[in-house]
Amino acid sequence: MSKLRYGIVGAGTIARQHAERINARTDTMVAAIADPSEKVRAETVAKFGIPAEYDSYADMLAKENLDCVVVAVPNAFHAPATLAALEAGCNVLCEKPPAMNAGEAKAMWDLAEKKGVRLQFGLNNRFTGEAETAKTYLDSGRLGEIYHSTVQIWRRRGIPGLGSWFTTKAVAGGGALIDIGVHMIDLTHYLMGQPKPIAASAVAHARFGSNPETYNYLSMWGMPVAGGPFDVDDLACALIRFENGASMMIQASWAANTSDGMDLRMMGDKGGIELSPGSYIKIITEDNGFIADITPQYKKPDSFTAQHEHFAACVQDKSLKLRTDGRQGYVLQSILDAIYQSAAEGKEVSISV
Ligand SMILES: NC(=O)c1ccc[n+]([C@@H]2O[C@H](COP(=O)([O-])OP(=O)(O)OC[C@H]3O[C@@H](n4cnc5c(N)ncnc54)[C@H](O)[C@@H]3O)[C@@H](O)[C@H]2O)c1
Repeated sequence: MSKLRYGIVGAGTIARQHAERINARTDTMVAAIADPSEKVRAETVAKFGIPAEYDSYADMLAKENLDCVVVAVPNAFHAPATLAALEAGCNVLCEKPPAMNAGEAKAMWDLAEKKGVRLQFGLNNRFTGEAETAKTYLDSGRLGEIYHSTVQIWRRRGIPGLGSWFTTKAVAGGGALIDIGVHMIDLTHYLMGQPKPIAASAVAHARFGSNPETYNYLSMWGMPVAGGPFDVDDLACALIRFENGASMMIQASWAANTSDGMDLRMMGDKGGIELSPGSYIKIITEDNGFIADITPQYKKPDSFTAQHEHFAACVQDKSLKLRTDGRQGYVLQSILDAIYQSAAEGKEVSISV
């Protein structure tokens, strides 16, 4: 069987993670990459021996005969690049967040359906050993009905690329919530069985990024840009209500005076789960009349590798069900939109999906 030919849009930090996983497989290869930055592109091309490079993804799509496209560009370009790749008949793995808003995500979902190709999102936490283990327990029914979840991702000083596109609302769509909160909302919603969201009540803060001269940090994802904008949230908190009566609390920070941490708690009427993706899982239960915990032993795959394995399998076999498809991207984006709207308006807002 010939290898699936992938094009990557964007050659930056996360594109390299994708290139490594794609080239590590025997049935997939990176055939081309597009990025307007010659320097970034050259480094990625050299590192992974990519045979063709372009400064525009439109040229890449026109000239290369690609089966799949990975979209790994700043958030504002997710929808345009994904729509162009879908239009060219390619299957797309688009990085998170799905888009800038639910309207864009809906257009991406609709076009993937129309073209009969796969659209997956880079929500790799769904592929961690903890998520797989949790899903097995949840699907068994032994935790009963999940009626509440609380999930938090705290960074003490973890603003990415301060002053770059990451902290520019027009390009990123938001801050901590859309950048890292998105992973936790998605994972929690997925494990809860994807109930229909109906409302969100939220607050958002910006206390650290707006003072770059006093921002005291040890390391940073991406490069800071002196004097660049910061018009996004560095902490957001929301309560989301679902049609089935269930609820989710989410708290996410890029920077706050609290310790780093990431944990998800799910409460069912017969049992519960506590986990941190990539780290641990504990089942909260009762056993033989005692209040007891189960600490399962489980495999811990690299979630990026597992996400590519799943995507390639779904491209090769159209009968397989995608774990993160266009509809889920639209629902997730609708939740994010409602959280930002609620924080801006200072009141609960409804969600219709
Ligand atoms: N799944 C994850 O855990 C994870 C982690 C990090 C980043 N991401 C996502 O990946 C995306 C990229 O993040 P990054 O950290 O790699 O950013 P980055 O800034 O390192 O790289 C982005 C690259 O895109 C290029 N670019 C900009 N506009 C382009 C266009 N129109 N066509 C082609 N290339 C273009 C830039 O020149 C840059 O090289 C973001 O959406 C981010 O949210 C996901």
